Formats: sequence, structure tokens, C-alpha cells
Amino acid sequence: MIVDLARRRVTIRKFLSKEVSIQKIIRIIEVGRQAPSGANRQPWRFIVVSDAGLKRRIREECEKIERGFHRKVPEWMKKWLSEKKITPIKKFLTEAPYLIVVCSEKTAVYHVQSIWLSIGYMLLAIEEEGLATVTYTPSRTAGIRELLKIPDGYIAEAILPVGLVSCISLRIIVRLMRNDVAVAFPPSSS
Ligand SMILES: Cc1cc2nc3c(=O)[nH]c(=O)nc-3n(C[C@H](O)[C@H](O)[C@H](O)COP(=O)(O)O)c2cc1C
Repeated sequence: MIVDLARRRVTIRKFLSKEVSIQKIIRIIEVGRQAPSGANRQPWRFIVVSDAGLKRRIREECEKIERGFHRKVPEWMKKWLSEKKITPIKKFLTEAPYLIVVCSEKTAVYHVQSIWLSIGYMLLAIEEEGLATVTYTPSRTAGIRELLKIPDGYIAEAILPVGLVSCISLRIIVRLMRNDVAVAFPPSSS
């Protein structure tokens, strides 16, 4: 059931370097491309990267951007990042066997909203395949565009490193309670 996938899914930032079947990646993208989009423009394009050299160059580029980002963020976010042990080091970009780079057609109506729906679909599909990911959103993507030869008119919106979880650690993800996020008119009895 989809609710079980949603409850089970958590962000994973450490992956086994073990191979994963490309068929799984194809099925994940198959789910992503079924998402609804503004005016059915389907602004998503997916670049699948498995080449070790290219992943390393993407990681180097992202870590350069991250060092600048971490220097500039406000204090509250520095604290949150440090609590989460999120540093400029993005090992997951080379550890995961696949990177799905999600690109968006910038001129498509509601392209940002549509892309994120597609990403949401894929996050659950990744869970269903027994794999894991982190929704990685580098703050600048010009270097990635160059590395991947992303055409003008498209922007790299997010990178999903996809692989097997390296170690299961007990993590409690705090979610708002149902009553905190939803109301019913008339109020429901339960
Ligand atoms: C729009 C968006 C952007 C995100 N960007 C990053 C990111 O750049 N780096 C990262 O490590 N995690 C990123 N995340 C993952 C969130 O930190 C994570 O989803 C959140 O802490 C909740 O944890 P959970 O996914 O385990 O439920 C992003 C998530 C979303 C939805």
C-alpha cells in the first residue's frame, strides 16, 4: 500500500557501492513520467549517470558549491545542518551506483511544481524498489549543466543518488500529527 511506502521512506545519505539493476532505475523513471504536470507540459527530462568518472566530477563541482553555501547560510541553518551532520562533503554522489539528474524545462507553465510532483512519485517508487535516495538540491547548477551538456532552456532541479542503504540506523523522523495538518468540516469523530 502506498501509505506503507510513504511511512517507511526516509532520506538516506550513505549508500553501498554495490551494483543495482538498471531495470529498477527504468521503472523508477517510468513512475516519475506519469506525474501530472501544468497543462500536461511534462517538463521533466532525466539524465541517468553511472559512469564513475562523471559522478566524481559532479561530486567535485557540488562540493565546491556546497563550501560556499555552508559559509553563507544563516546561523539557524548552520545549527540545523550540523545537528543533521550535513557537511559540504557529498560522498553519496560517488557512492550511489546511479544518479538521476532531474531537469526541468524552464519555459513550461508550472514547471517547478510539476517537477516536484514527478520527484515525489519517484521517491515512493525508489522505496518500492527496495532502494534509497536523498533529494539533493545544489544551490547553483551552472557547473552541472556544463558537465552534463544540459541544453539551454533546461535547468537541473535536483539530483537523486539511488542505491542500496549502506547501514540501517534507527532514525526517528518527526512528522506533524494528522490533526496538526488537516481539518475536516464538519469535524470528524476520530
Ligand atoms: C525540496 C527538497 C530539497 C532537499 N534538499 C536536500 C539537500 O540539498 N541535501 C540533503 O542532504 N537533503 C535534502 N533534502 C532532504 C531533506 O533534508 C529531508 O527530506 C528532510 O530532512 C526530511 O527527512 P526524510 O526525507 O527522511 O523524511 C531535500 C528535501 C526536499 C523535499
